[in-house]
Amino acid sequence: MKLFKTQIELQAYLTLLRKQSQSIGFVPTMGALHDGHIQLVKASIQENDLTVVSIFINKKQFNNLDDYNNYPQNLSNDMQLLERVGCDVLFMPDHDEMYPKTYVPINLDLGQLNTVLEGPNRPGHFDGVVQVVNRLFNYVMPNKAYFGLKDYQQCMVIKVLQEAYFPQIDLEFCDTVRLSNGLAMSSRNLRLSKQGVDLASQLYKMLDMIKRLSQHIESKDALQYAKHLLTQKHIEVEYLTLAHADTLTLGKKWFKKQKNVVLIAAHIEGVRLIDNIVF
Ligand code: PAF
Repeated sequence: MKLFKTQIELQAYLTLLRKQSQSIGFVPTMGALHDGHIQLVKASIQENDLTVVSIFINKKQFNNLDDYNNYPQNLSNDMQLLERVGCDVLFMPDHDEMYPKTYVPINLDLGQLNTVLEGPNRPGHFDGVVQVVNRLFNYVMPNKAYFGLKDYQQCMVIKVLQEAYFPQIDLEFCDTVRLSNGLAMSSRNLRLSKQGVDLASQLYKMLDMIKRLSQHIESKDALQYAKHLLTQKHIEVEYLTLAHADTLTLGKKWFKKQKNVVLIAAHIEGVRLIDNIVF
Protein backbone atom coordinates (compact mmCIF):
# COMPACT_ATOMS: atom_id res chain seq x y z
CA MET A 1 0.00 0.00 0.00
CA LYS A 2 1.30 3.42 -0.93
CA LEU A 3 1.01 6.22 1.62
CA PHE A 4 0.72 9.87 0.55
CA LYS A 5 0.47 12.87 2.81
CA THR A 6 0.28 15.61 0.22
CA GLN A 7 -2.18 16.13 -2.60
CA ILE A 8 0.68 16.83 -5.04
CA GLU A 9 2.17 13.36 -4.53
CA LEU A 10 -1.24 11.75 -4.56
CA GLN A 11 -2.33 13.48 -7.73
CA ALA A 12 0.97 12.74 -9.52
CA TYR A 13 0.48 9.05 -8.80
CA LEU A 14 -3.22 8.96 -9.69
CA THR A 15 -2.71 10.91 -12.92
CA LEU A 16 -0.25 8.28 -14.07
CA LEU A 17 -2.73 5.50 -13.38
CA ARG A 18 -5.60 7.36 -14.98
CA LYS A 19 -3.50 7.63 -18.16
CA GLN A 20 -3.38 3.84 -18.13
CA SER A 21 -7.20 3.87 -17.99
CA GLN A 22 -7.28 2.51 -14.46
CA SER A 23 -10.54 3.14 -12.63
CA ILE A 24 -10.30 4.63 -9.15
CA GLY A 25 -12.56 3.80 -6.19
CA PHE A 26 -12.47 6.03 -3.13
CA VAL A 27 -13.45 5.53 0.52
CA PRO A 28 -13.15 8.66 2.67
CA THR A 29 -12.85 7.98 6.42
CA MET A 30 -11.83 9.58 9.68
CA GLY A 31 -9.92 6.46 10.75
CA ALA A 32 -10.57 4.17 13.74
CA LEU A 33 -11.58 1.72 11.06
CA HIS A 34 -14.05 -1.09 11.71
CA ASP A 35 -15.75 -3.72 9.64
CA GLY A 36 -18.22 -1.18 8.25
CA HIS A 37 -15.32 0.70 6.63
CA ILE A 38 -13.69 -2.52 5.51
CA GLN A 39 -16.86 -3.57 3.68
CA LEU A 40 -16.75 -0.26 1.78
CA VAL A 41 -13.10 -0.87 0.90
CA LYS A 42 -13.89 -4.41 -0.24
CA ALA A 43 -16.72 -3.13 -2.47
CA SER A 44 -14.33 -0.60 -3.98
CA ILE A 45 -11.61 -3.19 -4.57
CA GLN A 46 -14.10 -5.44 -6.31
CA GLU A 47 -15.45 -2.72 -8.60
CA ASN A 48 -12.35 -0.66 -9.45
CA ASP A 49 -8.75 -1.16 -10.60
CA LEU A 50 -7.38 0.88 -7.74
CA THR A 51 -8.73 1.81 -4.31
CA VAL A 52 -7.83 4.96 -2.39
CA VAL A 53 -8.77 5.35 1.29
CA SER A 54 -8.34 8.66 3.09
CA ILE A 55 -7.95 9.12 6.83
CA PHE A 56 -8.51 12.66 8.02
CA ILE A 57 -10.26 13.73 11.22
CA ASN A 58 -12.05 16.76 9.91
CA LYS A 59 -12.30 19.28 12.74
CA LYS A 60 -14.68 21.44 10.67
CA GLN A 61 -17.47 18.88 10.93
CA PHE A 62 -17.40 18.57 14.74
CA ASN A 63 -19.86 20.94 16.36
CA ASN A 64 -18.77 19.64 19.76
CA LEU A 65 -15.13 20.09 20.78
CA ASP A 66 -15.27 17.21 23.29
CA ASP A 67 -16.44 14.88 20.55
CA TYR A 68 -13.51 16.02 18.40
CA ASN A 69 -10.96 15.69 21.22
CA ASN A 70 -12.25 12.22 22.12
CA TYR A 71 -12.62 10.93 18.58
CA PRO A 72 -10.90 7.51 18.57
CA GLN A 73 -7.61 7.11 16.72
CA ASN A 74 -5.82 3.87 15.99
CA LEU A 75 -3.52 4.45 13.09
CA SER A 76 -1.33 1.36 13.29
CA ASN A 77 -4.40 -0.87 13.44
CA ASP A 78 -6.00 1.07 10.56
CA MET A 79 -2.92 0.57 8.40
CA GLN A 80 -2.78 -3.13 9.17
CA LEU A 81 -6.45 -3.58 8.30
CA LEU A 82 -6.03 -1.69 5.03
CA GLU A 83 -2.90 -3.63 4.06
CA ARG A 84 -4.65 -6.90 4.83
CA VAL A 85 -7.76 -6.14 2.79
CA GLY A 86 -5.68 -5.00 -0.21
CA CYS A 87 -6.14 -1.22 -0.26
CA ASP A 88 -3.77 0.34 -2.83
CA VAL A 89 -3.36 3.90 -1.62
CA LEU A 90 -3.77 5.56 1.78
CA PHE A 91 -4.06 9.34 1.74
CA MET A 92 -3.41 11.01 5.09
CA PRO A 93 -3.28 14.78 4.76
CA ASP A 94 -2.86 17.07 7.76
CA HIS A 95 -5.08 20.06 8.49
CA ASP A 96 -2.98 22.58 6.52
CA GLU A 97 -2.84 20.28 3.52
CA MET A 98 -6.64 20.04 3.48
CA TYR A 99 -7.32 23.66 4.31
CA PRO A 100 -4.43 25.88 3.26
CA LYS A 101 -4.73 29.61 3.97
CA THR A 102 -5.83 30.16 0.39
CA TYR A 103 -8.78 27.79 0.78
CA VAL A 104 -12.13 29.33 -0.10
CA PRO A 105 -15.07 27.32 1.26
CA ILE A 106 -17.75 26.30 -1.20
CA ASN A 107 -21.29 27.42 -0.58
CA LEU A 108 -23.68 24.56 -1.19
CA ASP A 109 -27.37 25.08 -0.54
CA LEU A 110 -28.63 21.95 1.20
CA GLY A 111 -32.19 23.29 1.35
CA GLN A 112 -34.52 21.51 3.74
CA LEU A 113 -31.97 18.70 4.26
CA ASN A 114 -30.09 20.99 6.63
CA THR A 115 -33.22 21.91 8.58
CA VAL A 116 -34.06 18.47 9.98
CA LEU A 117 -32.47 15.87 12.29
CA GLU A 118 -28.67 16.19 12.26
CA GLY A 119 -28.94 19.67 10.65
CA PRO A 120 -30.30 21.64 13.62
CA ASN A 121 -28.90 19.19 16.19
CA ARG A 122 -25.33 19.56 14.92
CA PRO A 123 -25.02 23.12 13.63
CA GLY A 124 -22.25 23.42 11.05
CA HIS A 125 -21.73 19.66 10.80
CA PHE A 126 -22.91 19.19 7.25
CA ASP A 127 -21.11 22.28 6.05
CA GLY A 128 -17.92 20.71 7.44
CA VAL A 129 -18.68 17.43 5.70
CA VAL A 130 -19.36 19.24 2.42
CA GLN A 131 -16.07 21.19 2.62
CA VAL A 132 -13.93 18.12 3.29
CA VAL A 133 -15.61 15.83 0.78
CA ASN A 134 -15.38 18.57 -1.83
CA ARG A 135 -11.62 18.82 -1.16
CA LEU A 136 -11.15 15.07 -1.19
CA PHE A 137 -13.17 14.55 -4.37
CA ASN A 138 -11.09 17.24 -6.08
CA TYR A 139 -7.85 15.63 -4.96
CA VAL A 140 -8.76 12.04 -5.75
CA MET A 141 -11.22 12.52 -8.65
CA PRO A 142 -12.46 8.96 -8.28
CA ASN A 143 -14.73 7.11 -10.67
CA LYS A 144 -16.69 5.82 -7.71
CA ALA A 145 -16.98 6.82 -4.06
CA TYR A 146 -18.36 4.73 -1.20
CA PHE A 147 -20.29 5.79 1.91
CA GLY A 148 -22.11 3.86 4.63
CA LEU A 149 -25.86 4.19 5.10
CA LYS A 150 -25.53 4.39 8.88
CA ASP A 151 -24.99 8.09 8.18
CA TYR A 152 -28.20 8.23 6.16
CA GLN A 153 -28.58 11.99 6.07
CA GLN A 154 -24.89 12.41 5.25
CA CYS A 155 -25.40 10.17 2.21
CA MET A 156 -28.15 12.51 1.03
CA VAL A 157 -25.93 15.56 1.60
CA ILE A 158 -23.12 13.95 -0.42
CA LYS A 159 -25.62 13.32 -3.20
CA VAL A 160 -26.48 17.03 -3.33
CA LEU A 161 -22.74 17.82 -3.52
CA GLN A 162 -22.19 15.24 -6.24
CA GLU A 163 -25.11 16.48 -8.33
CA ALA A 164 -23.90 20.08 -8.05
CA TYR A 165 -20.16 19.62 -8.60
CA PHE A 166 -19.18 16.03 -9.40
CA PRO A 167 -21.70 14.45 -11.79
CA GLN A 168 -18.90 12.27 -13.19
CA ILE A 169 -18.44 10.46 -9.86
CA ASP A 170 -20.71 7.48 -9.15
CA LEU A 171 -21.81 7.21 -5.56
CA GLU A 172 -22.40 3.90 -3.85
CA PHE A 173 -24.20 3.84 -0.51
CA CYS A 174 -23.60 0.58 1.32
CA ASP A 175 -25.69 -1.15 3.96
CA THR A 176 -24.90 -0.61 7.61
CA VAL A 177 -22.72 -3.35 9.08
CA ARG A 178 -23.87 -4.50 12.51
CA LEU A 179 -22.50 -6.41 15.48
CA SER A 180 -24.31 -9.68 16.19
CA ASN A 181 -26.42 -7.83 18.81
CA GLY A 182 -27.63 -5.42 16.10
CA LEU A 183 -25.55 -2.39 17.09
CA ALA A 184 -24.45 -0.43 14.02
CA MET A 185 -20.68 -0.41 13.69
CA SER A 186 -19.24 3.02 14.41
CA SER A 187 -15.85 4.34 15.41
CA ARG A 188 -17.52 5.96 18.41
CA ASN A 189 -18.47 2.49 19.76
CA LEU A 190 -14.82 2.26 20.86
CA ARG A 191 -15.67 4.80 23.55
CA LEU A 192 -18.38 2.55 25.07
CA SER A 193 -17.83 0.10 27.93
CA LYS A 194 -18.94 -3.52 27.49
CA GLN A 195 -22.22 -2.65 29.26
CA GLY A 196 -22.54 0.40 27.02
CA VAL A 197 -22.26 -1.79 23.92
CA ASP A 198 -24.95 -4.11 25.31
CA LEU A 199 -27.22 -1.19 26.08
CA ALA A 200 -26.58 0.46 22.71
CA SER A 201 -27.96 -2.65 20.98
CA GLN A 202 -31.37 -1.37 22.14
CA LEU A 203 -31.27 1.33 19.47
CA TYR A 204 -31.54 -1.09 16.57
CA LYS A 205 -33.86 -3.39 18.53
CA MET A 206 -36.25 -0.45 18.90
CA LEU A 207 -35.92 0.55 15.24
CA ASP A 208 -36.71 -3.00 14.24
CA MET A 209 -39.67 -3.07 16.63
CA ILE A 210 -40.98 0.17 15.08
CA LYS A 211 -40.73 -1.40 11.63
CA ARG A 212 -42.79 -4.38 12.81
CA LEU A 213 -45.31 -2.17 14.63
CA SER A 214 -45.80 -0.11 11.46
CA GLN A 215 -48.02 -2.91 10.18
CA HIS A 216 -50.38 -2.48 13.09
CA ILE A 217 -50.35 0.96 14.73
CA GLU A 218 -49.94 4.65 13.90
CA SER A 219 -46.41 6.02 13.60
CA LYS A 220 -46.90 8.46 16.47
CA ASP A 221 -47.78 5.62 18.86
CA ALA A 222 -44.95 3.35 17.68
CA LEU A 223 -42.35 6.09 18.09
CA GLN A 224 -43.70 7.14 21.45
CA TYR A 225 -43.66 3.57 22.75
CA ALA A 226 -40.06 2.97 21.57
CA LYS A 227 -38.94 6.25 23.10
CA HIS A 228 -40.60 5.31 26.37
CA LEU A 229 -38.78 1.94 26.45
CA LEU A 230 -35.42 3.57 25.68
CA THR A 231 -35.91 6.24 28.34
CA GLN A 232 -36.80 3.53 30.86
CA LYS A 233 -33.38 2.03 30.16
CA HIS A 234 -31.79 5.43 30.85
CA ILE A 235 -30.92 6.02 27.21
CA GLU A 236 -31.14 9.73 26.37
CA VAL A 237 -32.96 10.04 23.07
CA GLU A 238 -32.09 13.20 21.10
CA TYR A 239 -34.52 12.37 18.32
CA LEU A 240 -36.47 9.37 17.11
CA THR A 241 -38.21 10.47 13.96
CA LEU A 242 -40.05 9.23 10.90
CA ALA A 243 -39.10 10.72 7.54
CA HIS A 244 -39.60 10.06 3.85
CA ALA A 245 -36.76 7.80 2.74
CA ASP A 246 -36.05 9.79 -0.47
CA THR A 247 -36.43 13.37 0.73
CA LEU A 248 -36.11 13.25 4.53
CA THR A 249 -39.33 15.25 4.77
CA LEU A 250 -40.58 14.52 8.27
CA GLY A 251 -43.75 12.43 8.47
CA LYS A 252 -46.69 12.35 10.86
CA LYS A 253 -48.05 9.15 9.30
CA TRP A 254 -46.36 6.15 7.70
CA PHE A 255 -45.44 6.79 4.07
CA LYS A 256 -46.90 4.30 1.62
CA LYS A 257 -44.88 2.08 -0.74
CA GLN A 258 -41.79 1.43 1.40
CA LYS A 259 -40.61 5.01 1.63
CA ASN A 260 -40.18 5.16 5.39
CA VAL A 261 -36.96 5.80 7.22
CA VAL A 262 -36.91 6.04 11.01
CA LEU A 263 -33.80 7.75 12.34
CA ILE A 264 -32.45 7.91 15.85
CA ALA A 265 -29.78 9.87 17.69
CA ALA A 266 -29.18 8.90 21.32
CA HIS A 267 -26.60 9.30 24.04
CA ILE A 268 -25.10 6.41 25.98
CA GLU A 269 -22.23 6.91 28.43
CA GLY A 270 -21.77 10.40 26.98
CA VAL A 271 -21.33 9.03 23.46
CA ARG A 272 -23.65 10.21 20.71
CA LEU A 273 -24.81 7.38 18.46
CA ILE A 274 -27.01 7.43 15.36
CA ASP A 275 -28.79 4.70 13.44
CA ASN A 276 -31.74 4.23 11.10
CA ILE A 277 -34.01 1.68 9.48
CA VAL A 278 -35.66 1.87 6.06
CA PHE A 279 -38.92 0.07 5.27
O1 PAF B 1 -18.47 9.55 7.49
C1 PAF B 1 -17.34 9.98 7.82
O2 PAF B 1 -16.49 9.28 8.37
C2 PAF B 1 -17.00 11.43 7.53
O3 PAF B 1 -18.11 12.25 7.71
C3 PAF B 1 -16.39 11.65 6.13
C4 PAF B 1 -17.36 11.32 5.02
C5 PAF B 1 -15.14 10.82 6.00
C6 PAF B 1 -16.00 13.12 5.97
O4 PAF B 1 -15.09 13.52 6.95
